[in-house]
Amino acid sequence: MSAKGVIILGSSRSKGNTHTVVSELQQQTGFDLIDLKAYKINHFEYDLKNEDDFNALFKKLTANYETFVFATPIYWYTMSGVMKVFFDRISDFLFEEKEIGRRLRGMNMGVMSCGSDQETKKGFEMPFVESANYLGMEYVGHIHTWIENRKIPQTVQQRITEFANRLMKK
Ligand SMILES: Cc1cc2nc3c(=O)[nH]c(=O)nc-3n(C[C@H](O)[C@H](O)[C@H](O)COP(=O)(O)O)c2cc1C
Repeated sequence: MSAKGVIILGSSRSKGNTHTVVSELQQQTGFDLIDLKAYKINHFEYDLKNEDDFNALFKKLTANYETFVFATPIYWYTMSGVMKVFFDRISDFLFEEKEIGRRLRGMNMGVMSCGSDQETKKGFEMPFVESANYLGMEYVGHIHTWIENRKIPQTVQQRITEFANRLMKK
């Protein structure tokens, strides 16, 4: 049986285009969905004194899942600010309570992007690949998606199915 995974949605709208493609992936994998917009997650602070939802959320995620799919819209050629802040805050668990951060070692990371263009620019994947390396996670890959007339185009549909199969083999 494959390990249970979670899709982490980092869009500025909970029911936007990224959610549309995420729903399809969710349906095909049975993975849970976490919408970062539903949580209060502040910017990283060096004193690590943030009082928000991040710590509890991160502990829950690392205790319950082995595969993490980061789903982000493309905003200004890169991941959304919401998603980037989530990555910044992982640093909290690299400074303190390091055993929580270390839980990610050996876990799987996949990435799904959704843009208006049909391609991402060179370099889009790099922060995910390098973060996976740094955290000791296995990088499963990235698919890029887009929406046409509020629907998932055939090419994208095929990509999602292929990605879902890859993720479920982990
Ligand atoms: C602030 C902002 C910046 C954007 N920048 C890009 C971009 O650089 N490349 C691109 O293909 N689409 C860009 N888009 C379009 C979105 O990626 C696209 O509409 C996506 O489907 C939105 O997903 P969402 O509904 O989950 O936010 C941008 C949209 C916004 C709001």
